[in-house]
Amino acid sequence: MSEACDLHTQAYFDAHTPQWRSDRYLPMIDWLKAHARGDQSLIDIGCGTGNILAFIKQNTPLHELAGIDITQRYLDQAAANVGCTTHLGSVLDDELCRKIGPRYDYAVMGAVLHHLVSATRRSSFDNARRALVNAVAMLKSGGHLLIYEPAHYPAAAMWGVFWLKRCGSAIAPRRLEVGKQWLNFGLPVVSYFTNEQLLAMFNAVGVELIEQQINDPKKLGLGIRRTSSTFVLRKTGSPV
Ligand SMILES: C[S@@+](CC[C@H](N)C(=O)[O-])C[C@H]1O[C@@H](n2cnc3c(N)ncnc32)[C@H](O)[C@@H]1O
Repeated sequence: MSEACDLHTQAYFDAHTPQWRSDRYLPMIDWLKAHARGDQSLIDIGCGTGNILAFIKQNTPLHELAGIDITQRYLDQAAANVGCTTHLGSVLDDELCRKIGPRYDYAVMGAVLHHLVSATRRSSFDNARRALVNAVAMLKSGGHLLIYEPAHYPAAAMWGVFWLKRCGSAIAPRRLEVGKQWLNFGLPVVSYFTNEQLLAMFNAVGVELIEQQINDPKKLGLGIRRTSSTFVLRKTGSPV
C-alpha cells in the first residue's frame, strides 16, 4: 500500500482496532435521513470496523456503501459487517482518491482529520486540508461531505499536546494512559483542531458549509475542552 500516511499511526491501527460509539453520528444520520435517496451512494473515509456504515445502512435509505481505510483488518471487518466495497489506502494518496472518484453522492469522514499527522503541527494542518480535497475528489458534482470531529480547545494547548506526544513518543513510543481516559502519552500522535480551525480549512478547499452542529461540550480537565462537531459541506466547483 501507499506510504501516504503516518506509518506509526498505521501501525497503531493495524495492532489496535477498537470500535467507537456510533451515537456520535446521530446528527449525521438525521441529516442523511432527511436528504438521502435509496439510489444514491456513500463512502466512509477511515471507516474502521464499518460500525458507522452499519448504522447508516440501518437508519437511512442508503445501501450502496463503500469504505476506505489504511488497515486491512478494519476493512475485512467492515466488509463482513456491512457487505460494502472496500478500498485499502490513505485519504492522503492523491492517485488512489482520483482513481476511486468522483462517483459518490456522499462521503463521511469521522474522527480521521486529527489522525493525519505529519512531522510538524503545521504540516499536519496541510495533511488535513489535503484529505478534504481528496475526499471532495471522490464526490459527484453537488455531492456532500459529512465530517465528524472531536474539536478541542484552547487552540494553543493542542499545539502543546501535539509536540508533547511527538517528542514523548520518540522517547517512549508505548501508549501510556494516565488517570483520565483522554490523557494518554505515546503513539499515535494526534493533531486536534478547534471548530474555527476546521471551518477555515473548509473555506480553503472551496466547499460550501450547509450545516453545522457543535454538541456535547465537555470539560476534560487541565483547562481542556472538547465538542462533538458535525459539519455538512457541499462540493461546489473544483477544489483549490
Ligand atoms: C478514530 S478511528 C475512527 C473510525 C470511525 N470513522 C469512527 O468514527 O468510529 C480513525 C480511523 O481512521 C483511519 N485512518 C487513519 N489514517 C488514515 C488515512 N490516512 N487514510 C484513511 N484512513 C485513515 C484509521 O485506520 C481508523 O480506522
